[in-house]
Amino acid sequence: MLKKIVLLVVMFVAPAILAQETDVKHIFVGAKTCGMCHKSEKQGKQLDIWKTSAHSKAYETLKTAEADSIAKAKGLSTNAILSEACLKCHVSGYNINANLKSEKFNMEDGVQCETCHGAGSDYKSTKIMKDEKQAVANGLKLFNTEEERVALCKGCHNSESPTFDTCKTDFAKMWIKIKHDIPKDIK
Ligand code: HEC
Ligand code: HEC
Ligand code: HEC
Ligand code: HEC
Repeated sequence: MLKKIVLLVVMFVAPAILAQETDVKHIFVGAKTCGMCHKSEKQGKQLDIWKTSAHSKAYETLKTAEADSIAKAKGLSTNAILSEACLKCHVSGYNINANLKSEKFNMEDGVQCETCHGAGSDYKSTKIMKDEKQAVANGLKLFNTEEERVALCKGCHNSESPTFDTCKTDFAKMWIKIKHDIPKDIK
């Protein structure tokens, strides 16, 4: 009898707990927040590397006449900068609830750290950042193999992009343009 009760409890309680765990939503804190600790020479200047990359300008690109003519050719009724069909790949968190964005988060900053690494509110403290396991448990996304990295790139660099050029799919070469490693000697 006791066994039966335990089984029932497990059956009805466990899914509820699981659902809660997977429902955890982390908050987007914006590239400047990540940059507070990821800008020094010693850390590997990730902020500078990102700022000089095309990703940080992806929102600005949508303001251009070229972008509007692409949007028009696709039959969109709004300017590129207001179109979900463009914003979805050109900014971080375009469709995310306002309460999941901190005050410091700016969509205008384009494709940001958190687009690739996950929303950072719960992993950004030094203590957690230094504990890889904990950081990952708190939402940090890492890419440990070339396959994982390429899969990430292909999420946006694909034929759904109106300007997609099949010649621009050498992801190893493209990675070199944006790579931002932590120097080996501090790891
Ligand atoms: C308070 C400082 C601080 C902030 C803010 C911060 N980081 Fe970090 N981060 C660190 C430190 C320090 C390390 C290096 C840990 C080590 O060397 O073990 C690190 C490591 C990392 C790593 C590599 C982890 C690994 O184990 O390979 C990634 C990726 C990362 N940070 C991304 C981010 C992103 C994205 C943000 C913004 C959401 C961010 N960090 C905000 C301090 C910070
Ligand atoms: C969230 C969507 C998204 C993801 C994910 C993404 N990119 Fe991009 N990337 C863009 C957009 C949008 C542009 C164009 C920005 C512009 O020119 O305004 C771009 C431009 C670039 C450029 C400059 C243009 C070129 O072809 O030389 C490079 C290099 C690049 N991305 C590399 C990468 C790599 C490597 C990855 C994977 C590690 C990656 N991107 C992942 C959206 C993304
Ligand atoms: C599936 C993701 C995706 C979507 C959706 C998307 N883009 Fe892009 N966009 C990219 C990527 C990746 C690049 C950089 C490489 C390339 O051209 O494919 C880019 C580059 C651009 C560029 C710069 C091209 C150049 O020659 O430098 C413009 C302009 C642009 N996109 C406009 C738009 C407009 C307008 C829309 C909406 C109608 C849109 N994009 C929708 C991913 C996307
Ligand atoms: C377009 C996607 C993308 C963007 C944007 C991006 N990263 Fe990364 N980042 C990656 C990938 C992929 C790796 C894994 C590197 C590898 O495969 O060697 C990585 C690795 C890292 C590492 C660990 C490097 C190491 O040596 O282990 C840090 C730290 C980091 N990123 C921080 C940042 C910060 C801070 C920003 C924003 C200023 C940022 N990243 C923006 C994709 C991105």
